[in-house]
Amino acid sequence: MALTAIKGFNDILANESGRWQYIELSARRIFERNGFSEIRVPIMEKTELFCRSIGDATDIVEKEMYTFTDKGENSVTLRPEGTAGVMRALIEHKLYAQDPVSKLYYLGPMFRYERPQKGRYRQFHQIGAEITGVNDPLADAQVLNMLSAIFREIGLDEPTLQINSLGCPECRPAYRTALLSFLDSRLGSLCDDCKRRYNTNPLRTLDCKVPGCIEATKGAPAMLEHLCPACDEHFGCVRRYLELTGTAYTLNTRMVRGLDYYTRTTFEMVTGLLGSQSAVAAGGRYDGLISQLGGPEIPGIGFAIGLERVALLLGQREFSSTPDLFIATMGATEREVAFRLMDELLKSGIRVEMDYEGKSLKSQMRRADKLKARYSVVIGENEVATCKAAFKRMADGAVTEAALAVEEICTAVLS
Ligand code: HAM
Repeated sequence: MALTAIKGFNDILANESGRWQYIELSARRIFERNGFSEIRVPIMEKTELFCRSIGDATDIVEKEMYTFTDKGENSVTLRPEGTAGVMRALIEHKLYAQDPVSKLYYLGPMFRYERPQKGRYRQFHQIGAEITGVNDPLADAQVLNMLSAIFREIGLDEPTLQINSLGCPECRPAYRTALLSFLDSRLGSLCDDCKRRYNTNPLRTLDCKVPGCIEATKGAPAMLEHLCPACDEHFGCVRRYLELTGTAYTLNTRMVRGLDYYTRTTFEMVTGLLGSQSAVAAGGRYDGLISQLGGPEIPGIGFAIGLERVALLLGQREFSSTPDLFIATMGATEREVAFRLMDELLKSGIRVEMDYEGKSLKSQMRRADKLKARYSVVIGENEVATCKAAFKRMADGAVTEAALAVEEICTAVLS
């Protein structure tokens, strides 16, 4: 039987990778402009790291992690997200001692054993950014503005920003109690997962997509109405800064994130174009995470963009690069001349293609068309003898005569 890729693990073929590179480069440009540097952390970590950060009672840790015992009897896990590993590295290398504010970005594959469908895979890719060491709501607003800027840079204006605040350890317990007493009389209408969440993670009931749960939790108290004065003030400032810089957002008081480390500001970029996989990016503040992992009390905030989902939103737009020139040849001697010319043009930064196998002229021209070359030129005996050739602009057939020399080709034809 032919071997195939593992379910939920995708090949990114050559005709798609141009789109991926375009997204990655757009994000890198915005990160660098905002003073963020790239960090590369391992794709596998000790399992404990994810249990202690994402939370034991989350779907990710309970059901979705690729966890193995390695040959040394250690429990290891393929990273389901990037924040935990980056914070582990920050603590391990004491990056905060070099600079109290660190601005880091990363990209790469993440792994979750979810049910694959459009926009949801078992190996997927995130582009993420984290800023640590700043409590001030300015950092929240900058992170959100940067996220919006990345989507603008990519050329997507459809995903919209939704924000919420999940409060802090001061105010969340009272909210949890209020929510539990609201859910008490409705427990019978909740799905089995939510019945369990009632004890372990009741906030997640607000996020459940089962119609019965949506109905039962209508009118549930909102965290925003239970924020302590400090969280309320913080969130108010975030909103003011967003308004000051013209960043559009809506409030979503039912937004609960699927990871336990969040405090205060949380957010998602959502789209209506990808069915139930509506979040193309998400993140929030995690002021307790670094100390929870054994580091100092350092606040943080960040996000991750789902690359596959952004690629889907970009649709079939063309991102592959096409040659500036296709050189067709008539015989063996001409192929030598053409090969040397191609080499010189390539060395000058021009994208050139030629036929590798000495096919018929007709088939060479078909290839020039297929590759969408901007110009083509045929080199035969006459062209070799005169050192001149006719360069055809493929779009309209217009012909320009030029010497077979790099400089002349560049100025007379390709400029
Ligand atoms: P998350 O919401 O779990 O947050 O994931 C962020 C984004 O990754 C999602 O909005 C989605 O676009 C994409 N994503 C998640 N799971 C899948 C999947 N199975 N297939 C395809 N795409 C997926 C985090 O991971 C946090 N670490 C974000 C963060 C950074 N918070 C603070 N800093």
